[in-house]
Amino acid sequence: MSPVRRNPLRDPQDRRLPRIAGPCSMVLFGVTGDLSRKKIMPAVYDLANRGLLPPGFSLVGFARREWEDQDFAEIVRDSVKAHARTEFRQEVWDQLAAGCRFVQGEFDDDDAFATLRDTLEALDEERGTGGNHAFYLAIPPSLFADVVHQLKRHGLAENPDSWRRVVVEKPFGHDLTSARELNDILAGVFPSGSVFRIDHYLGKETVQNVLAMRFANTMFEPLWNSHYVDHVQITMAEDIGIGGRAGYYDGIGAARDVIQNHLLQLMALVAMEEPASFEADQLRIEKEKVLSAVVLPRSLTRSTARGQYAEGWAGGEKVRGYLQEDAIPADSTTETYAAITLHVDNRRWAGVPFYLRTGKRLGRRVTEVAVVFKQAPHLPFGEHSTEQLTQNAMVIRVQPDEGLTVRFGSKVPGTSMEIRDVSMDFVYGGAFTESSPEAYERLILDVLLGDPPLFPRHEEVELSWKILDPILEHWAGQGAPEPYEAGTWGPESATEMLARDGRTWRRP
Ligand code: BG6
Repeated sequence: MSPVRRNPLRDPQDRRLPRIAGPCSMVLFGVTGDLSRKKIMPAVYDLANRGLLPPGFSLVGFARREWEDQDFAEIVRDSVKAHARTEFRQEVWDQLAAGCRFVQGEFDDDDAFATLRDTLEALDEERGTGGNHAFYLAIPPSLFADVVHQLKRHGLAENPDSWRRVVVEKPFGHDLTSARELNDILAGVFPSGSVFRIDHYLGKETVQNVLAMRFANTMFEPLWNSHYVDHVQITMAEDIGIGGRAGYYDGIGAARDVIQNHLLQLMALVAMEEPASFEADQLRIEKEKVLSAVVLPRSLTRSTARGQYAEGWAGGEKVRGYLQEDAIPADSTTETYAAITLHVDNRRWAGVPFYLRTGKRLGRRVTEVAVVFKQAPHLPFGEHSTEQLTQNAMVIRVQPDEGLTVRFGSKVPGTSMEIRDVSMDFVYGGAFTESSPEAYERLILDVLLGDPPLFPRHEEVELSWKILDPILEHWAGQGAPEPYEAGTWGPESATEMLARDGRTWRRP
C-alpha cells in the first residue's frame, strides 16, 4: 500500500471530510475590538492548528495604531494564548506569524489603502495567496461605506482571476430602512455572492443540529406541527451584564442585538419546511418562507414584554443595575430584556405561538429551544394518577450542556399507578469524543471556501426587520422598560405575557 499523504497538523475529526481553504489571505478591519481579540483571531489560529488553512495563509490587520507587523503579530499571539480553543503549538504559530502584516491608516485615507493593495500583492508573491482576499469588517456599520468604497477605488473589491469576499458583522442596520441602506452600500461594490453576513449562532453545532435532527430522522417530523405542538419557547439568557459594551449596546437593546438575528434565525430553522437540498439558496428560501409567514398578535402590549436590569446578584456577587453601568445615561430606556410572541401563519403552524425571549443579567447562561407538546387528549388513569404529569417537551439545548432532552411521563415504581415527568437526555460530550469547534471557526472557514449556506442573505435580514420594526415602534412610545432584579428571570410583565395565554416560561 502506498503511504497516504496526510497533513500531520490536521485534526482527526476533519479527516473524514477535509474542507481545507485554498490559497488566500484575510484582511481584518477593527483589530483592536473585543470581537477580533476574543473570537476572530483565536478562530483563525484554531483553523491553522487543525490544518484547515493553506500554508501561506496571511492575516493583515488594518487600524489607526502606530504598529509594525511585529506588534500586530504580538497582539494576535496574546489573543490566541488567551482565547484559542485548541492548544498552543509553536510550529503552527510560527507559520501563522510569518504571514501577519499590519497596515496603518484611517478608513478614509487613500494612501493607506494603496499600501494595503501593495501589501496584498506582495503576499501573493511571497506566500502564494493567489490574489484571493477576504475583507472582514469587524467595525461599526457607520464605517462600512468608507471601507468598501476604498476597497473599490483601489481595485481590491474584484479581480477576474481570483476571489474577493467581504464579511460583515451585525448589526445589519437599526431598522428596515437602515438595513436597506447598508445593503445598498455593500451591493454597490460587491456582488451578492461575495457578501457574507455573520450570524454566529448559525455557526454553532447545536444550531445546525436542528436541521440534522429534524431532517435526518423519521420520528420527530410527524409531530412537528400544530396537531401535536402546543407552543414553542426560544430562550437566550445571559448572566453577564453589558460589561464594557455601553457604546454599542445603549440605544440598540436586547431585541435588536439578539432577537432580530440569532433568535429569528433559530425560529426559522425550527419552523421551516425541509429544503430540497442543503444548497445555500434552498436553505435560505425555506427560512425566508417562515419569516414572511410571521404575523404579530393584535395587541403588542399584551404579547410583548421588555425590561431593564436593576441592581441584584450574579455569581454570588452584588452587581450594578443597567443605569449605573459606566457610560450609560441615567435616563436610558434601552431594554436589556425582551420577550415577544409570534405566529407563523401557515398550515403547519396555525395557532401555535412561538415565544422568544432574551435578556442580560438573568439567572444563568442558557440558550434553548423548547418544543412543548399538547396534552394527551385522554388519560385513562385514576383521578390523582397524573397530577404530576405536565406536557411532553423536546428541548434542544443550544448551550451550555449541548444536547437534547425529551420530557415525557412515566410510571413511578410502586403499587399504584402514579405517573410523573421524566427526562431522556442526549449529551454531545457523552456521545462524541471531539469537542465542538467554535462558531467562528466554522464560519471563517466557510468564507474562505466560499460556502454560503450558513450566512443569511439580505432578504432574511429585511424580513426580520419587518417583524421587529412594529414592536420597536410600539415600545418607543411606552417610556422606560420595567426594571427587574439582576440574577432573576426577567420582568413581571414577561410572566404575565405567558400567563394570559395560560402558559408559563420554562425555568431552564
Ligand atoms: C452577540 C450579542 O451577538 O451574542 C451579545 O451581541 C451576546 O450581546 C452574544 O452576549 C452571545 O453570544 P453567545 O455565543 O455567547 O451566546
